[in-house]
Amino acid sequence: MLVSMLLAAATLRLCLLARVQPLCRNHTVRTGKVFHISQQIQGDQLYFSSTRAHLIKHPCKKNIALYLGRQIFFTRDNFKSSLLPLSIPASMKVGTPEVTSAHIADSVLLLVVNQKIYIYDYEANSWNTSIGIEHPVSHVSGDNCCYSGHPFCVDISNSVFAYLHGDQISQTNVYFSNTRGYRFQKFAYERQAELVGSLGGIFYFHSLSQVGVLLIDQGKARFGYSEHPLNSSFGLPFDYNGTLDILITPGQKGILIFWFEKSLLVSRNSGQLVYPVHVKEGPNTLYSSISEANITIHSVAANEYELAVLTQENNLYYCSLGILSSSLIKFAGQNLWSQEAALMFTDVGRVEILTPLPDSVFPAFDFQKCPVNIQAVLMDPQLQVDVCKAELLQGEFDNKMYTIDMNSKLELTALMIPRPGMSLVPLAMVSNPHSLGLQAIIYEDGYTYDGNTKHRLNISLRQQHHWGRADPNFTSSIKRPTGSTITLDIANKEISCVDLKPLTALISVGCDQEKKIVIQNEISACHKGILDPVGLQDNYSYVIEKEAYDPNFQGQKASEDLVVDYQYKKLGCPHLVYYNTPWKPVVELWREGKFQEVIKAEFVLLEVHGLFTYTYSLTAQTALCRAQPQNWTTIMENPGNKGPFAWDRENYVSCHDPDNDAPLRWPNVPYQILGGPTANKVIFDQRNGIYVFYISIVDPYYSYCHLETTFSVYVYGAFPLSIIPAVVTIIPLMVAMLLSVWLAYAVPKLLHTEKGLRFKGFWIHPCRRSGAARVNRTPVKRRSRAPGGVRGDPLEGLRHSHESR
Ligand SMILES: *[C@@H]1O[C@H](CO)[C@@H](O)[C@H](O)[C@H]1NC(C)=O
Ligand SMILES: *[C@@H]1O[C@H](CO)[C@@H](O)[C@H](O)[C@H]1NC(C)=O
Ligand SMILES: *[C@@H]1O[C@H](CO)[C@@H](O)[C@H](O)[C@H]1NC(C)=O
Ligand SMILES: *[C@@H]1O[C@H](CO)[C@@H](O)[C@H](O)[C@H]1NC(C)=O
Ligand SMILES: *[C@@H]1O[C@H](CO)[C@@H](O)[C@H](O)[C@H]1NC(C)=O
Ligand SMILES: *[C@@H]1O[C@H](CO)[C@@H](O)[C@H](O)[C@H]1NC(C)=O
Ligand SMILES: *[C@@H]1O[C@H](CO)[C@@H](O)[C@H](O)[C@H]1NC(C)=O
Ligand SMILES: *[C@@H]1O[C@H](CO)[C@@H](O)[C@H](O)[C@H]1NC(C)=O
Ligand SMILES: *[C@@H]1O[C@H](CO)[C@@H](O)[C@H](O)[C@H]1NC(C)=O
Repeated sequence: MLVSMLLAAATLRLCLLARVQPLCRNHTVRTGKVFHISQQIQGDQLYFSSTRAHLIKHPCKKNIALYLGRQIFFTRDNFKSSLLPLSIPASMKVGTPEVTSAHIADSVLLLVVNQKIYIYDYEANSWNTSIGIEHPVSHVSGDNCCYSGHPFCVDISNSVFAYLHGDQISQTNVYFSNTRGYRFQKFAYERQAELVGSLGGIFYFHSLSQVGVLLIDQGKARFGYSEHPLNSSFGLPFDYNGTLDILITPGQKGILIFWFEKSLLVSRNSGQLVYPVHVKEGPNTLYSSISEANITIHSVAANEYELAVLTQENNLYYCSLGILSSSLIKFAGQNLWSQEAALMFTDVGRVEILTPLPDSVFPAFDFQKCPVNIQAVLMDPQLQVDVCKAELLQGEFDNKMYTIDMNSKLELTALMIPRPGMSLVPLAMVSNPHSLGLQAIIYEDGYTYDGNTKHRLNISLRQQHHWGRADPNFTSSIKRPTGSTITLDIANKEISCVDLKPLTALISVGCDQEKKIVIQNEISACHKGILDPVGLQDNYSYVIEKEAYDPNFQGQKASEDLVVDYQYKKLGCPHLVYYNTPWKPVVELWREGKFQEVIKAEFVLLEVHGLFTYTYSLTAQTALCRAQPQNWTTIMENPGNKGPFAWDRENYVSCHDPDNDAPLRWPNVPYQILGGPTANKVIFDQRNGIYVFYISIVDPYYSYCHLETTFSVYVYGAFPLSIIPAVVTIIPLMVAMLLSVWLAYAVPKLLHTEKGLRFKGFWIHPCRRSGAARVNRTPVKRRSRAPGGVRGDPLEGLRHSHESR
């Protein structure tokens, strides 16, 4: 197809035939009139405030579009049928039905009418008003993500700003909605009060993970950004003549188009650099801006890859929106313009001039369309456009969405085929290099196949941070998930490469939802025959004595014992831990059900019922902390943290961090962080029983995910609490004395002690199942009497005795 066109172009060039062909041929859409005979406009008919017609296309749903002019038309079939002008129900009481701005957010149409926001859910065909806006607004801004149902993508479509254009920025009220405009909240922009100038717009630049505010002051405008590292400086100032309309091109590439009648500017990096578009009027005439070219823009349309402009002088201009800037190229003139005409892309390389036509008989309007095939027009030898050097640029990753978590990389592949004898320069660009210093590197190898040289491109995307080279002044906070896009294009491609689209993928630099943590359980208490899985599954419950736990996790004894139902389904069989051995769980990373690695990052544990009969082998001092380490008490004291299990990668601060300046006042407190650089371990008290631990990976550099889970361990092997005094002399008399004291005092007491575990429904007689069984730590073996339950450990003398209550 392409080849044949190129041949055609060459032939034309040979003939030097200066054909004057029309750019397009009119046709009129006129349908359904007869059936709509009874149709009348109901409610208040809306109109657009600007004299220039605008056309907004839904970037994801190709047939949905909104025409804004003297009438407003909303189509769901790409203007393939006659339409009644859009009106708002009289019950909405809008007053003046003047629309100043509109945005399509997923399945709803947002219209700013008479300084308020109205929502039209076109799927449900229902109107509503937004909640939460207390001041007049003139504009809405937003974006749509077409890639997937990934939360990052859904957030893009749900985010909407509402603001009053031209208001003094220091005191204006900006509103933000993450519900597609249904509910707004005041948006607080840091340093807003200090900013000078008026508001030219506010946008969520998802490809940069920044909110950008356009500040206008004395004929110049520049963007300010919300997040580190861009928040400390502004984008480059640019000429702000007239009132610029700002178009965010689809695909989250960070391409912005600013325009009014006498000005057209483009930014390829979310406003950090904004340049006037150059205008090429002929082979040797190049103007540096629209105003220099002395043309008056009437309508502008853009898709992901290209830009088209219709001027009042009846000319159509076109330019490609590749990675490298190109100039607007003028197509031959034709009678295209009318006050109502609007430009829109119907496909790549296909632009259409759309004009609504009133009908004297019916209220529904018809649509005159004049479709232009850009590729065919570019063949016109008069334009003297070079043929495209490339035949193919193809990659599986195009229009897909990927996630990069920390410590992972993304490998993409593409195929590039130049025309024989030509050479191409591939170029890969990430829109947000700040997200952990994201870098794309192309590895290229060429091979010859069927006489053609093909180039395989491997694009490796990774975070510079993990190569140890990230500059903190350049990189956004590592703790903040961000987004970016990667675009692969050909640097030296001609404007005639219309069909050769750049390839783009959306990247969420954030949690890989497929990641899970699993606690290695190679020695389970069931495997060793100490606990019986059948018994555990049988609505097993146990009692935690009041001396051993604190429901408030403060280490204070509770006032009553706690009966705990063991969640076998969730926890499985407990991991077996010998009480006298310092212990640390082996934490594994799994992804999509497959083992990945043993996690060496820092993590913390908390017994979910408040058991405090364990401590840690290291103290703040022996863990070589420079600063006072956090602990569960300090985390729970923080009022910002909800619930007791709030210790995570967001609030964790390492005591080894050079920036942590909390003085080390209590060097002897237990160091509660496991894993990471220290050899810290858990030391259990002399107490047998089940512990259910919550585990949270707190190392902020391991993953963006909140990796957490619960698991259980069974601590065994503890003798009863030290009854034998610590100092046992070798004097036999002494021993005898102690023994007699023990016999006379301890044994009877021990038999009545409340300490220890109690098990419900174990080895007791079936008819008495509902009674509670109790395990005391006396060295009496009753193993054989424990059918289907916790069996006594012969080594350690766990005794299971039945207490009749
Ligand atoms: C408008 O929104 C409000 C609040 O969300 C809701 O209660 C009401 O039912 C909606 N009205 C219509 C017509 O959908
Ligand atoms: C930029 O943001 C960072 C992190 O949010 C903040 O610490 C810093 O103070 C901000 N800088 C300015 C100039 O606002
Ligand atoms: C804005 O207007 C000034 C003066 O009229 C002109 O010099 C400048 O080129 C214009 N800028 C743009 C981007 O159109
Ligand atoms: C710009 O064009 C208008 C008409 O299109 C003409 O009257 C005017 O003289 C031109 N100005 C310049 C500076 O060429
Ligand atoms: C299309 O129709 C309009 C008016 O309906 C006319 O002015 C224009 O010349 C026509 N264009 C072509 C290419 O036929
Ligand atoms: C690209 O990746 C493929 C598959 O992993 C490999 O065989 C090839 O050698 C790589 N090419 C380059 C240039 O790195
Ligand atoms: C970051 O910026 C600060 C202040 O501008 C400077 O002192 C510091 O050296 C910079 N750090 C790096 C790694 O460039
Ligand atoms: C466990 O308890 C549930 C409800 O608490 C009950 O439906 C079930 O029958 C019990 N199972 C056994 C084996 O007792
Ligand atoms: C937690 O840390 C604080 C100091 O930050 C200390 O006073 C307290 O004793 C510690 N608590 C425990 C249980 O170690």
